Amino acid sequence: MIPFFLARAIKSFIVCTTYISNFLKRTTLQQTFLKKCLTCKKRKIVRNTFNKTVKMFASRTARAHENSSTASSARSLGSRRKTTTTAFIGRAMMFTTKSSLVEDDFLSLPTSPNKKVNALSIVMKRKGVKTRRAMRNKSIENAISEPELTQRVTGSTNVTNKRSTKEVKWSLNRAPFEEGGLSEIASGQANSGIKQWGPTNQTIKDWRSVYRNSSLSNKTQTKLDEREIPERCVVDGAIPKDLRGTLFRNGPGMLDIYGKELNQFFDGDGLVHTYEFDGSEKKIKFKHNYVETKGFYDERAEQKMLYKGAFAVGNPKGDSFYNPFDFNVKNVANTGIVEWNDKVYALWEGGKPHELREDDLITIGREVDEVLGQELRVPQMAAHYRVLEEEKTNERTLIAFSIESQPSAFPFTTNKAAFYEWNEDLSEKKRVDFDVPNATFGFFHDMLVTENWYCLFQNPTSLDFQKLMTEYMFAKCALAETIAMQKGKRPILWMFPRSEKAKKIGTKSYELENQFFFHHINAFERENGEVCLDSVPWKFMDFSMNLDMVTPAFWQDGSRTEYTRFTVNPYLETDTNSIKQKSLSERCCEFPCLNPKFAGKEHKYVYCGGSVVKDARKWGPNQCLVKYDVSKCGPGGEEKALDDVYYYGERSFVQEPIFASKPNGMDEDDGYLLQLVNDAGEDKTFLYIFDAKKIGQGYECKIELMDEHVPPGLHGFWSPQKI
Ligand SMILES: [Fe+2]
Repeated sequence: MIPFFLARAIKSFIVCTTYISNFLKRTTLQQTFLKKCLTCKKRKIVRNTFNKTVKMFASRTARAHENSSTASSARSLGSRRKTTTTAFIGRAMMFTTKSSLVEDDFLSLPTSPNKKVNALSIVMKRKGVKTRRAMRNKSIENAISEPELTQRVTGSTNVTNKRSTKEVKWSLNRAPFEEGGLSEIASGQANSGIKQWGPTNQTIKDWRSVYRNSSLSNKTQTKLDEREIPERCVVDGAIPKDLRGTLFRNGPGMLDIYGKELNQFFDGDGLVHTYEFDGSEKKIKFKHNYVETKGFYDERAEQKMLYKGAFAVGNPKGDSFYNPFDFNVKNVANTGIVEWNDKVYALWEGGKPHELREDDLITIGREVDEVLGQELRVPQMAAHYRVLEEEKTNERTLIAFSIESQPSAFPFTTNKAAFYEWNEDLSEKKRVDFDVPNATFGFFHDMLVTENWYCLFQNPTSLDFQKLMTEYMFAKCALAETIAMQKGKRPILWMFPRSEKAKKIGTKSYELENQFFFHHINAFERENGEVCLDSVPWKFMDFSMNLDMVTPAFWQDGSRTEYTRFTVNPYLETDTNSIKQKSLSERCCEFPCLNPKFAGKEHKYVYCGGSVVKDARKWGPNQCLVKYDVSKCGPGGEEKALDDVYYYGERSFVQEPIFASKPNGMDEDDGYLLQLVNDAGEDKTFLYIFDAKKIGQGYECKIELMDEHVPPGLHGFWSPQKI
């Protein structure tokens, strides 16, 4: 007994001594630092020395305080307690530089860190110094009427905001629609003359509520689990009889990793699901499985988060820092999916593909080194690809690409862009690569292909080394956040020769206006050699933006994406600035697609998810299926595109549409659009089928996914052969 008590006494003594010692050290250091900084006659020198670091701390801390009332603050920015010391110093320095605060204001503050912050706030308020929070709230008030979010809401939208008793509404004004357009149809008052929409009743919580875990099981599903979606689930209309084939979809399915919510849905584990149409008017077959990546498998076995993602902030180990040179993140295999020659691959651009068994979508190849018989030379493959179809023979070619973005053996080696091609029976394979300088952080997400050219858009992004060392190292930001757009830097369009004809010209590059490229629509060539490249670029990109930070103000000004046409003639234009750029619509859109038979050829119609608002400044989340008609836009995009729109209504948010061609279709729009929609009001996911010729007139069929929630996905593929 005595040794036991002695041991307890010694342990208690050590703990107490350590605690007191740490407290004294922290207080002394803090006071010393403050006094040195704030009483030094050469304060400017001190300030300049610490300026950048302190501003960064101050900025993050102000955000931490802003967000401290939300449930997500601890997760996204670390605990408030940990940041208090740096918060105080940062705030003090920042406001000293831009206000009437003097040294005495700081030196007379209490010693307790928390009390210091509170006291400083009182001083600032007394002196009329505006905090970042106050300024931010004012700007938001100007744009929206919604109070701050107090908690992440799941499911139904009928949840009262605890901090406010007033009705939470999304007061986003809407522009009048064109005559005969959407408003009359959607309101059910055709020819009523209504041209103006008022504020909506949906809230930002509606939008956020769909970003949660899928209700589909994350246990491995075998073929025995294949389900028929019964008749009762075709809630409206009938499935077109000539719609035969399989819709493949991939997207983040797990957005809460065993209790740790992701604040960025790009890091969710890949959930693959298929919908098989065999000609039945009322039934389809449905399968699903998570891609069993190493990360997903290990975490499911341990029932806890083990790996860090590329986009979401969070250190699974819970430490306050991790090795800044450890760039390993979880391959979530959640972005793309392709079915080719009876093989299925789940794609994610940060790593190698995963091979799935076609019958039951079970993962049979984890991070494969070989895809369809071609060895991957680089350690990843992009999630986007193109399929070109020969006009006369209907033979299809699959084209994928990869950027050598990892440091090679010699760190200053020029990056390579590798392009892979496969014909349908894999009898012909090809791989070519080209030099691309400084491509490591160029963020190449998508590509375009024509008969003669491979086209890549290199973003004006590069590594923010300061952020890497001061934030990523301390688990304060995700790896992707260390890649940022650079002021003054311009994106580059690379055109690499694909044919012998183009090889005579060689690689061409053109500088573009400052913008950010994610998804492209299509590229085609005209007889004079001119190439048109249609894309949906964003005005800018900030990877620190996450689900918790999006408010309705996000959809007003700021970054937005429009249907944009680039025109250049690589045979004539030698000036790197000679490319022309035109916006073809002011309706914001994303996830574009077209009839796959027209990939690489001149097209008339493009389909995408789009916002209800059609305005040069205001926009909104994707709540519509939009069909653009660009046939009258002129050679260089001189005229705006026409659009035909189906609006799903308030609280419904759309996923990527996929075009399924009619078997013997003659026109470009002879086909169907298949689109998953998250209805936050009903808390259900629906699959809609439209005739591509008459989208604005409404859907052909609406299918309910048996009460299952399928969160917003990323990309899919239509396979006409597979049923
Ligand atoms: Fe994408």
